[in-house]
Parts: sequence; C-alpha cells; structure tokens
Amino acid sequence: MNANPYLPVRAKILEVVRQTEQIATFQIESPGLNPVPGQFLEVSIPKVGECPLSISDFDSDYIELTVRKVGKVTGALNALRKGDHLFIRGPYGNGFPLEKLAGRHVVMVLGGIGLVPVKSIVNRYYQNGGVKRLDLLVGFRTPREVIFQEELARWQEKFNVVITVDQGEPDWPGRVGLVSELVKEVAGQERAVAIVVGPPAMIRAAAEELLKSRVAKEDIWVSLERRMSCGIGKCGHCKISDQYVCLDGPVFNYRQVEKLVD
Ligand SMILES: Cc1cc2nc3c(=O)[nH]c(=O)nc-3n(C[C@H](O)[C@H](O)[C@H](O)COP(=O)(O)OP(=O)(O)OC[C@H]3O[C@@H](n4cnc5c(N)ncnc54)[C@H](O)[C@@H]3O)c2cc1C
Ligand code: FES
Repeated sequence: MNANPYLPVRAKILEVVRQTEQIATFQIESPGLNPVPGQFLEVSIPKVGECPLSISDFDSDYIELTVRKVGKVTGALNALRKGDHLFIRGPYGNGFPLEKLAGRHVVMVLGGIGLVPVKSIVNRYYQNGGVKRLDLLVGFRTPREVIFQEELARWQEKFNVVITVDQGEPDWPGRVGLVSELVKEVAGQERAVAIVVGPPAMIRAAAEELLKSRVAKEDIWVSLERRMSCGIGKCGHCKISDQYVCLDGPVFNYRQVEKLVD
C-alpha cells in the first residue's frame, strides 16, 4: 500500500453505528484496499497510539471496523464521530482459507466480538451462497452485549443461527449457557469444517466439542489475538513459539496451535 510499511494513511469516517455501550462500528473510506476476510488493520489516532483491529466488513469503497472500548486507543476511537478521521495501515495477516470452506457444512463458534472477523464471510454467503450448510453459534456475556442484531436477524432467514448468553435476563428469549455446549447439537451429522473465534478458554472448549463430533483438527480454523506492535513480523511482540501471529496468522488451524492457545 505504501513504500514505508509503517506509514499510515488518513481515512474519513463515513458512518458510525453504536452496537452496545462499549462497542461501535465505523464505516471508513477505503484507500483501494482489497482485504481477505479475517485480515486486520493497524489503526491509529495521532498522539494517542495504534492498535490492531479486524476488518468486520468491506466493499470496494469502504472498510468497516468494530471496536470494543477497553483502553487508550480503543477509548479514543470510541469517541470519534461521522466526518472525523483516523489513520490506517494494512491489511495484514493471512485471513480465513475460504477455499477450504467452499461447498462444505460450516460450523462457526463465536464468542462476543469474535463475530467481527467473520461478519463479511457470512454476508457473502448470505448474498451469494457457497456453502452446503452454515450453523452460526454465537455467545455473549449478557443480552445487553449482543452486537450485529440486524445482521443476526437477517442471517436467520438462510442459516441456523443460535444465540446464547452466559447470564440471561427476564425478557431474554434466546438460549442461556456456554456457546461451546451448542456444538454437539449441530456438528456430528456430517464431516464439518469449523471457524472458532473468541477468548482462549472458549476456543479450547469449542475445539474439544468439535473434536468429539469428529471434526478434524485440520478443519478447525481459529483466529488468535495477541498483543501486537509492528503488525508485519519485525518486532516479535506477537510471537508464540516459532509463529508470528501477525504474519503467519491470525488464522491458524487447530493442529498448528492447539498447544499455543493459553
Ligand atoms: C489481530 C487482532 C485483531 C483484533 N481485532 C479487534 C477488533 O476487531 N475489535 C476490537 O475491539 N478489538 C480487536 N482486537 C483487540 C484490540 O487490538 C485491543 O483491544 C487493543 O489493542 C487495546 O488497545 P487500547 O490502547 O485501547 O488498550 P490499552 O490501553 O493498551 O489496554 C487496556 C486493557 O486492554 C488489554 N488489552 C490490550 N490489548 C489487548 C489484546 N490484544 N488482547 C486482549 N487484551 C488486550 C490490556 O491488557 C489492558 O487491560 C484485535 C487484536 C488483534 C491482535
Ligand atoms: S506484531 Fe511485530 S512481529 Fe508481530
């Protein structure tokens, strides 16, 4: 994208959609990026800092980011409005191996903002087809933390979408319990391929259930989050064992990383 890989470009915020109190989706101008779903950008605000964020959706003229406010940079991003600018470099990382999902029974097991890196894939399957069957199992801590509510409702027209929360509330109509517990309801019938994104304990629990349902380790694709700095394999911040999460990942198959999910 640039001669100097650390030099970010300025991008205008076209739209902001508030998902929850802590989470917002930003549609920003795309400087001609053509990402693969699952890749990420390094996003910065001058004098505040930089952080990696997954691309939650994209088209030829926009990129979408979905940000949970947890600290300095994400807090400053959360305060931005339509018409403001931020800075981006990337896209980085490998993205999901979509060719391995084509025509298959796909099971996605996603925790909270784990939905972010797969949103563009589900939207494309919704619009164009491409898989035999899609089970989308999504877990949130509470009903107030459910994101992409419109999209989840739309996807239910074509796919099996099951939403569960760890702690229900009196008017919550959905399921209560761990998302990994839903795997056995959908994964055993035919040889499935899976995508798992979420915190490490959830990844481990979901992978164990998928393995019990005879999904092969090579067919379980996980996206890992690690503290990053350069995003391009130079600084070593994200290295686990001999893998650079920013460069070799963030998407790995479970055989590659089963001992590295901590
Ligand atoms: C490949 C990749 C993709 C990501 N995609 C998204 C995304 O789409 N949306 C999103 O909201 N976040 C995403 N994250 C996480 C995001 O990068 C961190 O939340 C962010 O770096 C925090 O920066 P900060 O300055 O706001 O927080 P800081 O002020 O640096 O820290 C605040 C708190 O957050 C914790 N923290 C910081 N970084 C991380 C991290 N990487 N993982 C877990 N905890 C962290 C710190 O330990 C501290 O407790 C992604 C991370 C990676 C590596
Ligand atoms: S973030 Fe620098 S090597 Fe991965």
